[in-house]
Amino acid sequence: MMAPPNSPETRVRELHATLRHHAYLYYVKNRPEISDEAYDELYRELQDLESRHPELVTPDSPTQRVGIQPLDQFPTVEHAAPMLSLDSGADRESLERFDTRMRKALASGLDTGTGAAPVRYVVEPKLDGASVELVYEEGRLTRAATRGDGQRGEGITENIRTIGAVPLSLRDEDRPVPGFLALRAEVIMRVAAFDALNARLLEEDRPTFANPRNAAAGSLRQLDPQITASRPLDIYTYDILAAVGYDSEDRWPASHRETLEALREWGLPVNELSRPAETIEDIIAFHAELKSMRDDLDYEIDGIVIKLDELTARDELGATSHHPRWAFAYKFAPRKEVTRLLSIVPSVGRTGTVTPVALMRPVELGGVTVSRATLHNREEVARKDVREGDLIRVQRAGDVIPQVIERIEEPDRARAGPWKMPAACPSCGTPLVERGPFSVCPNLLDCPAQLTGRIQHFASRHALDIEGLGEETSHTLVQEGLVRHLPDLFSLTAEQLLPLEGFADKSAIGLVQAIHAARETELARFIYGLGIPEVGAAVARALAQDLRSFGALLDADEERLQAIEGIGPIMAEQIVAFLRRPTVAKIIRELLSFVRPAPPEATGDSLAGRRFVLTGGLERFSRAEAKAALESLGARVTSSVSAQTDYVVAGENPGSKRERALELGVTVLDEAGLLALLEEGGIDI
Ligand code: IVH
Repeated sequence: MMAPPNSPETRVRELHATLRHHAYLYYVKNRPEISDEAYDELYRELQDLESRHPELVTPDSPTQRVGIQPLDQFPTVEHAAPMLSLDSGADRESLERFDTRMRKALASGLDTGTGAAPVRYVVEPKLDGASVELVYEEGRLTRAATRGDGQRGEGITENIRTIGAVPLSLRDEDRPVPGFLALRAEVIMRVAAFDALNARLLEEDRPTFANPRNAAAGSLRQLDPQITASRPLDIYTYDILAAVGYDSEDRWPASHRETLEALREWGLPVNELSRPAETIEDIIAFHAELKSMRDDLDYEIDGIVIKLDELTARDELGATSHHPRWAFAYKFAPRKEVTRLLSIVPSVGRTGTVTPVALMRPVELGGVTVSRATLHNREEVARKDVREGDLIRVQRAGDVIPQVIERIEEPDRARAGPWKMPAACPSCGTPLVERGPFSVCPNLLDCPAQLTGRIQHFASRHALDIEGLGEETSHTLVQEGLVRHLPDLFSLTAEQLLPLEGFADKSAIGLVQAIHAARETELARFIYGLGIPEVGAAVARALAQDLRSFGALLDADEERLQAIEGIGPIMAEQIVAFLRRPTVAKIIRELLSFVRPAPPEATGDSLAGRRFVLTGGLERFSRAEAKAALESLGARVTSSVSAQTDYVVAGENPGSKRERALELGVTVLDEAGLLALLEEGGIDI
């Protein structure tokens, strides 16, 4: 039955179609016709209608991307067809072998006897993301799964639904949609989004991702779809895995090119760089072109994929159990460069571990100039047999510290002798001790390099947060003998600082004042600042929250510590061992004669049992701090908004959680509102 023209039902349908159309223009055509604001307005209108007419909410409504309930575990899902891997190589010869095989196979298949049958390929970027299967039934997204072992993967439907670029229902305006359609796609995280995510994780004191691929895969494997929704994921589809129930045979794709066209017409994002190729020169040119574009693309690729275009030829060629015979991944060599190793210097960290650092002639690696690389430990140096003056190959994988891969033989050059880890600490002269492959300076207290590192750590942002006390100043203070032990910091005077290089009146006074002000600090910051092995900012907070005074921490035995959430036996042992060292205990006693670490302020329970969700950026504190403050008043901070949520705190750019809260009638607080609540509970920020 047709709904009357002005009914809410008709308008909801119109809004579905309009929103889907604009999403298609935005994600598939890259040609939006309306502004984000105009889109949001239509979206809000739909939300509003749906909240007034809940019976009109359908699962494929654009408002229904984020489910509410976190899962206990992912279901195992059998793929519609095996998700095979790709045959691959990074050298020209393996590409040539593939091309020759294709030509021979097609020539014999066509039986022309000439061996000169034309071969058509499609070349595409090889996207460095997470491979997924998407299933549409009657045009609606019903299932999505990770690749898993190729036969079975994990059902991540709810998470895939949160990705804006994934249509919840397919377009059938240009081409009929088969009743059952299983697709293969790659979920990616764009580089800018990846950097922003890592910055946020760092801010919240949580582990960061090594590269966008891990970030994409990790985000897909969240049991709570709200978390996935907060991760900026994107997707490109590139293959049909299986299809059942399409009537107009003649419109069914006969080639890969047509497949890509069909995917686009159904409203699915397809990478825009793919193109036809015929000769090996075409392929090599595409490889070279993408390689030179690689650093400018806003997503990561690790090579190109060459696919036979014609689908019947593909069927004839078939597959091994591992990969189809009709495709080949011609990979880029990793981001490596060759340079000269100038010297190897032992560098003493704050915990006393001495790391051999390679100083090299600067080279550009994936867009970044590097002149230092880690050699990890003395065994690594010996294993690679790198010596000063050698030619070396270095590599930067993702965002991590550059590494020395190997040395390059130069038969005619006289080499320096093997590098040796010094027997004594380069900073304090104390004989080094060996712990496995590592060399450690045991002079915990007096080693200037360790002290420099410790000062820097003590003053860092999550510790006492003393402005103006970074690496260089710490080094100067130690070198000039002004600070021999951490507590000396608190007796520094502006007169002592003034003659030092880099200090003027203002900065000297400023630093002394900043150090003075840092005496009033929080217990968690003080604990973290001590640099206890294994104790990061989050563990320090847990300790402070539970034990509430430094005395209680000193009294705690391993068993007591293990009763605290997040602290296991190894950590407990390390903490107790560290604090009980007589020298450490003495320093701490002295520090405590200056510093008054306050326990988490309110012991109140003014928010006992209340559930909070934090979203968006806050100005006055990091999310981790806001969470700790709320928890100290007995509140629970969770990540997903549900009807059980009492408050959603929405900072800058809050995103969908705020919308969700408004929909559910949950109270939304801004930062001022949060501050007021905390203040009521006795916490002054
Ligand atoms: S085709 C059976 N095309 O590379 C066809 N795969 O190393 C196999 N990948 O697991 C896939 N970009 O996740 C294909 N344009 C592309 C691709 C691509 C990235 C991934 C895919 C696969 C892996 C194999």
